[in-house]
Amino acid sequence: MQILGLQELEVVLLFWAGVSFLLVPVERCHMTDLINTEKDLVVSLKDYIKAEESKLEQIKKWAEKLDQLTDTATKDPEGFLGHPVNAFKLMKRLNTEWGELESLVLKDMSDGFISNMTIQRQFFPNDEDQTGAAKALLRLQDTYNLDTDTLSRGNLPGVKHKSFLTAEDCFELGKIAYTEADYYHTELWMEQALKQLECRLARSLTCMCVYPEHQRANGNMKYFEYIMAKEKEANKSSTDSEEQQEKETEVKKKDYLPERRKYEMLCRGEGLKMTPRRQKRLFCRYYDGNRNPRYILGPVKQEDEWDKPRIVRFLDIISDEEIETVKELAKPRLSRATVHDPETGKLTTAHYRVSKSAWLSGYESPVVSRINTRIQDLTGLDVSTAEELQVANYGVGGQYEPHFDFARKDEPDAFKELGTGNRIATWLFYMSDVSAGGATVFPEVGASVWPRKGTAVFWYNLFPSGEGDYSTRHAACPVLVGNKWVSNKWLHERGQEFRRPCTLSELE
Ligand code: OGA
Ligand code: FE2
Repeated sequence: MQILGLQELEVVLLFWAGVSFLLVPVERCHMTDLINTEKDLVVSLKDYIKAEESKLEQIKKWAEKLDQLTDTATKDPEGFLGHPVNAFKLMKRLNTEWGELESLVLKDMSDGFISNMTIQRQFFPNDEDQTGAAKALLRLQDTYNLDTDTLSRGNLPGVKHKSFLTAEDCFELGKIAYTEADYYHTELWMEQALKQLECRLARSLTCMCVYPEHQRANGNMKYFEYIMAKEKEANKSSTDSEEQQEKETEVKKKDYLPERRKYEMLCRGEGLKMTPRRQKRLFCRYYDGNRNPRYILGPVKQEDEWDKPRIVRFLDIISDEEIETVKELAKPRLSRATVHDPETGKLTTAHYRVSKSAWLSGYESPVVSRINTRIQDLTGLDVSTAEELQVANYGVGGQYEPHFDFARKDEPDAFKELGTGNRIATWLFYMSDVSAGGATVFPEVGASVWPRKGTAVFWYNLFPSGEGDYSTRHAACPVLVGNKWVSNKWLHERGQEFRRPCTLSELE
């Protein structure tokens, strides 16, 4: 199951993720199915409660009736039994009715609910899923620099359904971090669990609900609140200045940062800005696909996102209806995305690529075919040698760590079977906005490209010489809140010989 999905991957930061780190449900089942399963179980549980209540109601009525009766009878047993109907009824009660009542008391009302549980349990996430979800949460915490308090209060940007962690939830996270030998997060979360627990304890010891009029209790309560506020303030200002310092050194060292740190900074939108001089050379324009007849009268909006490597964004390039069609075609086929393992040459799943994807052929729908033609017209590249349209859905925690889209020299077999050469260029449609996180970032050069529904970005992975452009190394940042849909087209070298001829120099 995957956490994350509307379709699949979306549960809001809660627990069931799948495989390895992220909130991707395992293949057994989609996250939305789990939500529905839970809903059905609640209905069944309520039916059980109703049945149990009506049983208890019947028992109560019997007890009340007999209470009155026995009261009267014991006060004057002889007089009572002097009435033949009473004598008959006593026989009948003891011989039959108490037995019936006994059967009612013994009757198990839980059958329906228990059998529903048994059926549904096979779809439940397992320990591995829960650990996966917890790790995803810790991972998001690091990538997006979220402090434990913020995360535990569920204070995330753009969340629709706020959700917080209890002391027990925090303890669980700490325990999982501990089993993973991740002592950094263990400490953070155990401390948070303790803090929340102490806070609860302090409140209940002094609780005004227990001794509403108690003078001293009221005074203590005020005192606890004051201490807590002060502690929070102190924590805040100390981390603020530490953070500030850290940030400053980070900026100084930026060029020497390991890729992971650069990637995370860019994901948070903390990339160093381009110099104004460079930035001034980025433009937006109407583009007609180099006088393509389909675009001369209705050129499309194009913006420069980056200069080197050149990354351009097309605006209003896929309509909401087209997006819906593409998503609907892809949904039944989505499965955990794979990567190429250079050692075995096979496709496998990997924790560094967590998303669900599906491939759509132009033959199966006029919409897909129209989209392919659009890419061909606007890039000037032949799409007949391109791979099929890939649709990807990232749930919360879904990501694709830094990678190249093209095959390197040490893996010459990667696209050999296709016979169409290397991946010359990438076209990437953003089919959703993302509430928080989910940028496409280029850590080598410091570019962050934010998803904007209905737009697409395009870049060349290879120089005209056919050499790979290492500055195109890029990543899909983990989704923090929401759900990310993209679709992409990898264009290949074959067919482009006259459309993008090689030049004399190797690196341009
Ligand atoms: C990819 C990729 C980026 C993104 O699928 O190869 O880099 O933002 N995707 O989804
Ligand atoms: Fe990529």
